Amino acid sequence: MNGKLKVGVLVSGRGSNLKALIDACSATEFPARIILVISNVATAGGLAYAEAATIPTAVIPHKEFPSREAFDEAVNAELRGAGVELVCEAGFMRIHSDGFVRKWLGKLINIHPSLLPAFKGTHVHEQVIAAGVMVSGCTVHYVTPELDSGPIIAQSEVPVVKGDTPATLAARVLEAEHKLYPAVLKKIAEGRVRLESGQVVTIDG
Ligand code: GRF
Repeated sequence: MNGKLKVGVLVSGRGSNLKALIDACSATEFPARIILVISNVATAGGLAYAEAATIPTAVIPHKEFPSREAFDEAVNAELRGAGVELVCEAGFMRIHSDGFVRKWLGKLINIHPSLLPAFKGTHVHEQVIAAGVMVSGCTVHYVTPELDSGPIIAQSEVPVVKGDTPATLAARVLEAEHKLYPAVLKKIAEGRVRLESGQVVTIDG
């Protein structure tokens, strides 16, 4: 299909969400394709998934840059150079500078393993279990300068069950993530979700 949305994915680690996006994009009729995967970590497992799918990759180690802004500018240059139209963060463990977020506002999304705005940040499943809540899940949201606080596009719930450990809960949430992220990407690529004046506009159907 011509006119597929050109997607760049940012990863730092395992890359199971990247894999879910790659698998979805491999369907002929899927309206998006991943044209670049960038990692700030050379050993990130996600890079292997990209390479197996012959998707171009770039490693940009953040430690080699004097500032957050300089690192982000290198990432921005790679994305622009490749012609990326939408950036998906998938386990990307760097906080962006405000300048980067402003440049990509409405074109930069992230998946987070909780029902935001609850349980932001890291050690999410530990936080959820400690709080004793009975429902958790995952959220796909537009990225804004404030961490894990951007406009919510979609969420998926999973139960928290008696005896859950952070690992068992993480595995259950991850399964939901692997369904939700490709579904959101599809909607965005079809033009059925967009950010307008700071609000998520959704066209159902
Ligand atoms: C996921 O739980 C995602 O929600 C969070 O980081 C984890 C990344 O896992 N942002 P993976 O690298 O996609 O396997």
